[in-house]
Amino acid sequence: MQIKDLGQFHEMTNLAKNSPEFFWEQIAKTFVWKKNWHKISSGNFNQLDIKWFPGAELNITENILDRHLKTHPQKCALIFLANNPSDLPLKISYQELHDRVCQAANALKNLGVKKGDIVTLYMGMVPELFISVLAAARIGATFSVVFGGFSAQSLAGRINNSKSQFLITSDFSLRGDKIIPLKAVVDEALKECPSVKSVLIHQRYPDGIIDLISGRDFFWKDTVEKAQTICPPEYVDAEHPLFILYTSGSTGSPKGLVHTTAGYMCYAQYTFSNVFQMAADDIFWCTADLGWITGHSYVTFGPLLAGHTTVMFEGIPTFPTPARFWEEIDRLGVTHFYTAPTAIRALQAQGTKWLENKKLDSLKVLGSVGEPINEEAWEWYHTHVGLKRCPIVDTWWQTETGGIMISALANITPSIPTFATLPLPGIFPVLMDADGREIAWKKGQEAEGNLCIKHPWPGIARSIFGDHNRYSENYFKAYPGYYFTGDGAKIDAHGNFRITGRVDDVVNVSGHRIGTAEVEDVLNRHPFIVESAVIGAAHAIKGQGLHAFCIPQKSISPNEELAILNEVNQLLTKEIGAIAKIESLQIVTDLPKTRSGKIMRRILRKIVENDFSNLGDTSTLLNPLIVQQLIDKRK
Ligand code: WT7
Repeated sequence: MQIKDLGQFHEMTNLAKNSPEFFWEQIAKTFVWKKNWHKISSGNFNQLDIKWFPGAELNITENILDRHLKTHPQKCALIFLANNPSDLPLKISYQELHDRVCQAANALKNLGVKKGDIVTLYMGMVPELFISVLAAARIGATFSVVFGGFSAQSLAGRINNSKSQFLITSDFSLRGDKIIPLKAVVDEALKECPSVKSVLIHQRYPDGIIDLISGRDFFWKDTVEKAQTICPPEYVDAEHPLFILYTSGSTGSPKGLVHTTAGYMCYAQYTFSNVFQMAADDIFWCTADLGWITGHSYVTFGPLLAGHTTVMFEGIPTFPTPARFWEEIDRLGVTHFYTAPTAIRALQAQGTKWLENKKLDSLKVLGSVGEPINEEAWEWYHTHVGLKRCPIVDTWWQTETGGIMISALANITPSIPTFATLPLPGIFPVLMDADGREIAWKKGQEAEGNLCIKHPWPGIARSIFGDHNRYSENYFKAYPGYYFTGDGAKIDAHGNFRITGRVDDVVNVSGHRIGTAEVEDVLNRHPFIVESAVIGAAHAIKGQGLHAFCIPQKSISPNEELAILNEVNQLLTKEIGAIAKIESLQIVTDLPKTRSGKIMRRILRKIVENDFSNLGDTSTLLNPLIVQQLIDKRK
């Protein structure tokens, strides 16, 4: 179902409100099913046994591959842009993708992977990762992609949480001028992962040297490339887990969100088609890594389910120069470009000279995702990349939501700088006031509060792997009967949503979610640190940066403070990954805590941002005097 104009947008919004079952059924009917559903959906936000299309059976890859082979087998499905721009773009047709996915699926079966098994993928952005994701789905295995920038410890933690038995990796990954030894990281991680039986290794850099463990490690070229190119799809139940994706929360270790097959499929295509409004020959480029949900929904599933051409980029925006994105857009004729505000700000900081002589005339639509986009970045993107002719869709959503929830629809509903604008038809966001009550917003009024969603939608994550109770506590306890997003938002007089950012202890660094608790855990392992508090504060490029306040074991000189910052950052790289880097570290004698022992991070954030004027009520603190000490030290 693709909305074509504003009138139809309003019609669909009303239809979804008045006849939700009929609305979602129309979307489901556009797919190929092995067996039909006996119900559109069941469950609610009180019982948390949410199901979409129960009773149905399907295979998602049949909808991605076989379905499109009937109409356009030779159409380009995937364009791979290698790290080095002198490597020509590699184009893979739907037919070829089908054949390569089937080969990988057969190879996985030969390794012993069965329906319901969990396959972990730890790779760079190479076609073999894309193919592996689809191959797992082809045989009914659940995939768990771990971002290739995570450390051995992080990888091990995710493997052990899911008890995954199979791992697919690359020997190395290539990013900018770096060659990252992925297999060496895997070897270190697997020392702690007894569940893993087999490792499949794709060679990205065959000149490099890796260790092999016989009986456990197999090469892609010896297994996948020798396998048959036909593999019948394994049909699964609508609610069969399609993938697990780990993301940070406000407490504890990363949680594995479980997305299931039919609902995710319907939601990925519905949102992709309606937000981006692609024509048949358009080319979609989403710059996200497959290690994040954006890479799942809008590099892989959305575009392919819709039968379009998607671009996969191995490199980084500044290699070999900050003109890379613009050169590739011209080289490929990209029509739809979807990236993160942090990338826009980083390129903006390099100046417009990198855009000189770039045509960018193929572009039709620009997208933004991952964090609130500030006005300057929006204007720069609009003026210098979109040449003032392309609408910008600022898409708000989350790992948990599976797909875009609030966004303009390109060329259909208006784009407004810094506003995600309107919910998609079928999505019912509301704001909660300080007493936990839904704010009854009316046209002409403005409102501000915590953002919740009212009714289940097909793409919502169904659980946290192995911990359904944590799922319920995390998302449904604060506002019973509602899904709580963790974000704050405002609504303008016309009903447009503006997301103001996280209201929980999650920090958004360069569009990546990091929990303050995970970072504090690592800091507290440093021999000099007894206790620490980590906060996110505004950062010009990253959106937010991490800052730490630490109570030391013994008194420490200012020189030592810097040394500790460096040591702590090394520790964080080792334990979490390079994205978890602290900008500043302050040694303190105490932390501002409430009487119940909760650190008042709000106060620490203001101190880091040098905003000492309005610290709010500090009288309820256990140790109110510490606040002035912290301010004095900061000054
Ligand atoms: C958090 C979710 C969306 C997929 C990538 C990130 C923030 C995301 C926007 C936006 C303002 C945004 C929110 C959200 N966020 N998109 N367009 N405007 N904020 O997924 O890692 O699960 O992070 O990212 O704070 O809760 P994620």
